[in-house]
This record gives sequence, structure tokens and C-alpha cells, in this order.
Amino acid sequence: MIKSIDVGRVRHRNRLNMKKTGSDTHNRVAIVTGSDRGIGFEVCRQLGRLGYQVVLTCPDAAKGKKAAAKLRRQGIHVVYHVLDVTNEKDIRALQSFILKKFGHVDVLVNNAGVMIDGGRSQLEGLLARRLKKASRKLDFGEGPGILGTDRDIVRWTLEVNLLGSLRMCQVFVPLMMKAGYGRVVNVSSRLGQLDSMTDAEKVPAYQMSKTALNAVTLMVADAARGTNVLVNSVCPGWTRTDIGGPEAPQSTEEAARTILWLATHPDGGPTGGFFYNKKRIDW
Ligand SMILES: NC(=O)c1ccc[n+]([C@@H]2O[C@H](COP(=O)([O-])OP(=O)(O)OC[C@H]3O[C@@H](n4cnc5c(N)ncnc54)[C@H](OP(=O)(O)O)[C@@H]3O)[C@@H](O)[C@H]2O)c1
Repeated sequence: MIKSIDVGRVRHRNRLNMKKTGSDTHNRVAIVTGSDRGIGFEVCRQLGRLGYQVVLTCPDAAKGKKAAAKLRRQGIHVVYHVLDVTNEKDIRALQSFILKKFGHVDVLVNNAGVMIDGGRSQLEGLLARRLKKASRKLDFGEGPGILGTDRDIVRWTLEVNLLGSLRMCQVFVPLMMKAGYGRVVNVSSRLGQLDSMTDAEKVPAYQMSKTALNAVTLMVADAARGTNVLVNSVCPGWTRTDIGGPEAPQSTEEAARTILWLATHPDGGPTGGFFYNKKRIDW
């Protein structure tokens, strides 16, 4: 249990951080998808430390509530809301919750993602979860490549990585446009860059999902142009998470940096771009 004096200290530091960034984060509301663990969880933590009201979301209520409680003990203003990005009812319920509780949303980080090219069947995955076994890491190179890839794997990958993020934009970007403020960060990957389209990575479904997500970024950015809603894609870099595996060189703290930079960008910042390490990269 963190003592209340520690929470007070964290809140004081949060206020100092707000002054340091020079941006008024008071009352700013941020939704982060797939944020009970990995990069999404760290994005929630860093936004919370800047003073944002964070809405931590994921499909599993027990895991989400536990993650939110952990952040709350660090003095962060966070609420959990259930969200499977493939479930229309969940997305609608989140929209109602946001409008009722806050009346607006300022930041949307479309972070939820899967990489299932590696070949683990859904049944194996479910069993691993039920038995609370660590999931087998899916190494690059494990899958069959483009000529052998299973179309169901492609379909399911696109459901989460592409259509989930698209639907979140369709529901929340109009609210941002109406309010005249919004920052949307689509968490993509350099594996989706067009000049990365070799068969060597063996994760074709994941790669095409991120290429298509980048297309969504461009079109949503264009639809929102001139409304102070900035929409960008980011590659967080190869990071130690379930998707990245234990050999990845980077921590989640490092991975969150460019996401935070775009999520908190002052007015007049870039829109319709793809960024890595705070620099624009090719599509
Ligand atoms: N790690 C890397 O090296 C790397 C590199 C480039 C890009 N990325 C991108 O970074 C993002 C975050 O990945 P990560 O590395 O942090 O992976 P991670 O630790 O495996 O986290 C993935 C998150 O997505 C959630 N998720 C999966 N399916 C979902 C669904 N249908 N609806 C809502 N949430 C769902 C997971 O929830 P559960 O806990 O319920 O499964 C989890 O919270 C992904 O978009 C990934 O493609 C990662």
C-alpha cells in the first residue's frame, strides 16, 4: 500500500510536469486501447503523470481493473472501461460512458494489437490463458509467409489491428472535431512500411494490417483537417512485450516516448504523418 503522503508527492510532481510541458492538461481525457499491459499500460502511466484523466481499456475486466488500480496507487487519475475493439457494443458503451462522465475526449491512442501470424492456434491460446501459463512467444520467422498464410489469421488480425482502430476513429474523431481539439495516435509498425514488404519477416497478416492502418491514418487526418484534430501513425520500435518478445532492445518506457510526443503535441503540430523516434518516416 502506498501511503497517502506518497500519493500527495506524486500529484505535486504531476502538477510540476504539467507546468514543464507548458500545455494545459487540466481536464484532458485520454482513451488508450489495449492498455492493461505492454506499451499501452506505459502510455497510460505517462499520460497520467502529465495530469491527463486516463481511460484504460482492454477486453478482460479483471486484468483491466487490476492495471488501473496499480496506476491509481501511483496517484494517477485513471478509470477502467471494458473494450474489445472488435465489439461494436463495447465501443458504443465506451462512447456513452465518456460522454456521460466527461462530456468530451481529447486523446485517442489506438494501441490494441495482435500478432498471430506465428501459428499458435486460438485453442492453444485459450488453453494457455485458462491454465494461466505464460503465452508462447511468437518469434519472427515462425509463420508460413505470404504464400501459405491462413486467411482466417489475416481476417482476425485485420479485425483487431485495422477495423478496431478504424471504428474507434469513426466514433471518437467526430466528437473531437466538434470540440475543436483532438490528438489521435495509431500505433503502427515499421513492418508495415511499403519498402519492408519482403517475405522474410514471416508475419504477413501483421504487416498488411499495419500498412492498412497507416492508410486509415492518412484518410482520417484528411477528414479532420483544419479542425485542430491531429492524426498520426507511430512505430514505437522493437520493444520487450508479449508481441516484441524478451530479446527486444527497448523498454516500454522508451517505446511510449514518441506516442506521448504526438498525443500531447501543441496546436499546429503535424498531422497525417508516420513517426519513429520523433522523426517522420516513409510509408
Ligand atoms: N512490441 C513491439 O516490439 C512492437 C513494435 C511495433 C509495434 N508494436 C505495436 O504496439 C502495440 C502494443 O503492443 P505491445 O507490444 O504492447 O503488445 P502486448 O503487450 O501484447 O499488448 C497488446 C494489447 O492489445 C490488447 N488487445 C489484443 N486484442 C484486443 C482486442 N480485440 N481489443 C482490445 N484490446 C486488445 C491486449 O489485451 P489482452 O491483455 O486482453 O490480450 C493487450 O493489452 C500494438 O499495436 C503493436 O502492434 C509493438
